[in-house]
Amino acid sequence: MQLEQKNVLLGISGGIAAYKTPDLVRKLSAQGANLRVVMTDSAKEFVSPLALQAVSGNKISNSLLDEDAEAAMGHIELARWADIFVVAPATANTIAKLTHGLADDLLTTLALATSAPIAIAPAMNQQMWAAPATTENCLKLQQRGVLQIGPASGEQACGDIGYGRMTEPEDIVTYLVEFFGRTASSNIDNNLFVGKSIMITAGPTQEALDPVRYITNHSSGKMGYAIAKAAKEMGAKVTLISGPVNLASPAQIECKQVTTAQQMLDAVMDKIEQQDIFIACAAVADFRLADIPTHKVKKKEGVLTLSFEQNPDILKSVAALQSPPFTLGFAAETNNVEAYAQGKLERKKLNMIAANDVSSSELGFNSDRNALTVITKSNKTSLPAASKEALAVDLLTLLHSEYSTIQNNKKSK
Ligand code: PMT
Repeated sequence: MQLEQKNVLLGISGGIAAYKTPDLVRKLSAQGANLRVVMTDSAKEFVSPLALQAVSGNKISNSLLDEDAEAAMGHIELARWADIFVVAPATANTIAKLTHGLADDLLTTLALATSAPIAIAPAMNQQMWAAPATTENCLKLQQRGVLQIGPASGEQACGDIGYGRMTEPEDIVTYLVEFFGRTASSNIDNNLFVGKSIMITAGPTQEALDPVRYITNHSSGKMGYAIAKAAKEMGAKVTLISGPVNLASPAQIECKQVTTAQQMLDAVMDKIEQQDIFIACAAVADFRLADIPTHKVKKKEGVLTLSFEQNPDILKSVAALQSPPFTLGFAAETNNVEAYAQGKLERKKLNMIAANDVSSSELGFNSDRNALTVITKSNKTSLPAASKEALAVDLLTLLHSEYSTIQNNKKSK
C-alpha cells in the first residue's frame, strides 16, 4: 500500500490506450490511492465510464456543466483535492491544449485550476510523437515542471513501430510510488553541488557508413539526461554533451548536440578545463569506418567488407589530463558485469565506475528504469532497480561523498 492516502486525479483523454485505464485505476487503488476520474468526450469512445466508475468506486466526471457531478464535488474542489493530476493517456491534442492553457473541457480546466503536480503519460502514433510541434509542446510543459511518464517504444495499434505507446499501468504506478517516495523523504539536497561544474555525456553516437547509412546502439539518453537534471536540481552548473536522442534538451542546462564520437570528444575537450566532475554516461561507438565513402555504396553481389578503426576513448582522454576532474564512468555489460567494470576503473584510471547490467530489456538501455553497482578503489555500493530519475539522485549523492573525501584528502596533504 505505497500510495495510501494519496489523492490521485486521473484525466483520461481520447486515445486507444484509454482501454488500459480501468487496469491503471485498479492498480492504483490496490496501492491505497484514492481515485477520482475525469474523461474527455472522445475518451468515452474508447473506454466505458461505467467500467471506470465500478473500479474507482466514484462517479466519473466528464463535463463542467454536469450538475450532479458538480454537486458531488465541484471542479475547483476536485482540483484542490488532488495530490497529483495524472493525464493518461495524454493525446497529442490534449498535450497541445495543456501547453497553450486551453480550458475547453473539464480535463483541461482542472489542469489550470490545480496547484498539484501534473504528470502526463503521452500516447500517440510514433510520427505524431516525433512531430516538431509535439516535441516543442512537451519541452514547454517540462520547463513548467510537468512530469512526463514515457512514452514507451514498441508496436502500435496502427501497426507502426516506435515511440508513442502509453507506459504500461504497472510502470505508471511504480513512477508514482517513486515520485511520492522522493517527495516524502526529500532525499534531494538542492545545495549539494552549489559552486560545482559537472559535465555529462549522454546518448549514443552515430558513425557514418556512407552519406545515407550509419551504425549506432540502443542508448536512449534517458539515464544521462536524468543525471543532468538531478545535478541541476542539486545546485550544479551542468553541461550536457548529447548524442542523437529523442529527448527535449533540459531547461537551464547548457546542451551541445553531437553525432559522432569525434564530435563528442571535441565538445567535451572544449569545456573540460572548467569542470569539477565529468560523468561519461554516453554509449560511445568504439569503432568508426576507416574511410567513409563520399557517395552511397551501391548494392553488389557477394559479401560487403568494411574496415573499421578505433574511435578516441573520451573518458580515458579526460582521466589522462594533467589535472583531470573527478571522473565517473559507466560500464554497460551483459556478463561478468562487475569484473569488467572493475577492469575499466583501473585501465581508464577513474575515480568511480557504475557497473550497468544491460542483459535485461527491463533495465539499462532504452528503458525507464535502471540498477547500478557503483565501484571505487575501496568501496562497492548497489543501487537497486528504480526509475532513472530516482537512481540519478542516489548516484550523485554517492558521487558527492567520494568527491568530498578526495578533496579533503588533497587539502590535508
Ligand atoms: O541511454 P539509456 O537508454 O538511458 O541507457 C543508459 C546506458 C545503458 C547507455 C548507460 O547507463 C551506460 O551504461 N552507459 C555506458 C555505455 C557504454 O558504452 O559503456 P562502455 O563499457 O562501452 O564504455 C565504458 C565507459 O567509457 C563509458 O563511461 C563510456 O561513456 C566511455 N567511453 C567508451 C568508449 C569511448 N570511445 N569513449 C568513452 O568515453
